[in-house]
Amino acid sequence: MASIDMKNIVKKYGDGFPAVNDVSLDIADGEFMILVGPSGCGKSTLLRMIVGLEDITSGDMVIGGKRVNDLAPRDRNLSMVFQNYALYPHMTVYENIAFPLRLSKTPDDEVRRRVTEASDVLELKEHLERKPANLSGGQRQRVAMGRAIVRQAEAFLFDEPLSNLDAKLRGQMRTEISRLQRRLGITTVYVTHDQTEAMTLGDRVCVLRKGKIQQVASPRELYEQPVNLFVAGFIGSPPMNFLPATPEGNRLKTPFGDVELDEKRAEAVAGHDLLLVGIRPEYFEDASLVDEAKRPLGSVFRARVDVTEWLGDSQYAYIPYEAPESIQSQMRELSKELDSEELRTQAIVSIDATSRIREGREAEFWLDSRKVHVFDPESGDNLTRDAEAGAELTRLASQDRVEQLEESQGRAGTSQQTGGATAASA
Ligand SMILES: Nc1ncnc2c1ncn2[C@@H]1O[C@H](COP(=O)(O)OP(=O)(O)OP(=O)(O)O)[C@@H](O)[C@H]1O
Ligand SMILES: [Mg+2]
Repeated sequence: MASIDMKNIVKKYGDGFPAVNDVSLDIADGEFMILVGPSGCGKSTLLRMIVGLEDITSGDMVIGGKRVNDLAPRDRNLSMVFQNYALYPHMTVYENIAFPLRLSKTPDDEVRRRVTEASDVLELKEHLERKPANLSGGQRQRVAMGRAIVRQAEAFLFDEPLSNLDAKLRGQMRTEISRLQRRLGITTVYVTHDQTEAMTLGDRVCVLRKGKIQQVASPRELYEQPVNLFVAGFIGSPPMNFLPATPEGNRLKTPFGDVELDEKRAEAVAGHDLLLVGIRPEYFEDASLVDEAKRPLGSVFRARVDVTEWLGDSQYAYIPYEAPESIQSQMRELSKELDSEELRTQAIVSIDATSRIREGREAEFWLDSRKVHVFDPESGDNLTRDAEAGAELTRLASQDRVEQLEESQGRAGTSQQTGGATAASA
């Protein structure tokens, strides 16, 4: 296992276009790091530079304390798990896992020992004599990981490994990868443009846009304290609503009435004419369902509902609103970049499944104004981000990770003398 440290990494392809533009990112030993962003933002390019499949134009790639810019892929001892798992159909599972050891002419009994250990961890023991064609998608993925484990690779690298699976299998595989990574404690870099994968798998998530890092943080920090409009709009589903707003003292005038800001945030937004207020769907509620005690902590407004969607455990309501043309064009740009289909001048509001609010009618909504963020529409900056609170969320996540790792290594060191222990401490 090793840490991966990137310093000012730049990748320019033939035409001089910087696909990766000055990326500095430190990935800790044993950490699960996600690279996420819209199509073309440079995720695969960055991953390929880590493995050595792509030359680095400038900057330093340091793996396990050693600069590897000029090392060939095979000398970096990393393991890329490909989307199609690249298994050999005519070989048994045993031989597929053993393959890298055969290449390096490892003695037979050593091969047997390592394949047995790996198949223990991966729960593949019963399948060792089968061919890949007779395995489920999940089992095949495990065989591919087994190959990486017997090599005692320094890190696992994944490039959208689940993107062509159906939704159900994708969910299962996600859980599988997460479980194995925790168990093995192997440094992992995982590329995806699926924000659910990003949020559920990563210890930390690195959000890229046009080759540049926007924010690197735990999923919770990204969600609660995004640095800018781009991150705020990318993370979360359904996405954050952005409404035009003008500050007036410690209030924001919005299409949904006035939103009160605390002193600190009012100060942060003072002096701006036109702003965007970012409100996640779940910050809203059907006002008639909000506790009397909670009501004064937010603001209440009336609005006409266009459409409602009842999903059993939750319910969404769509509320159209008016926005000035300058804001509309800004939002069009953003949604184009985020790959999201439609620009809407309508808010998506999440209300309790029991709410009787119906489409076509006016209703009263409550908005938790304590949670809103306010953005500068020009620069996209989040003016009300609480950097300290955000850092604390990431610190807690990192503490959890270290504790989990110690626990799993403690277990592996005592009770289970095999697989995980060897692979994880290699
Ligand atoms: N071999 C190449 N030559 C020139 N330009 C390239 C090459 N490979 C990638 N690019 C460009 O570099 C940019 C980043 O590409 P990359 O494949 O890293 O994106 P990505 O984030 O992985 O996207 P996706 O989600 O679509 O896989 C894109 O603009 C792409 O067109
Ligand atoms: Mg890609």
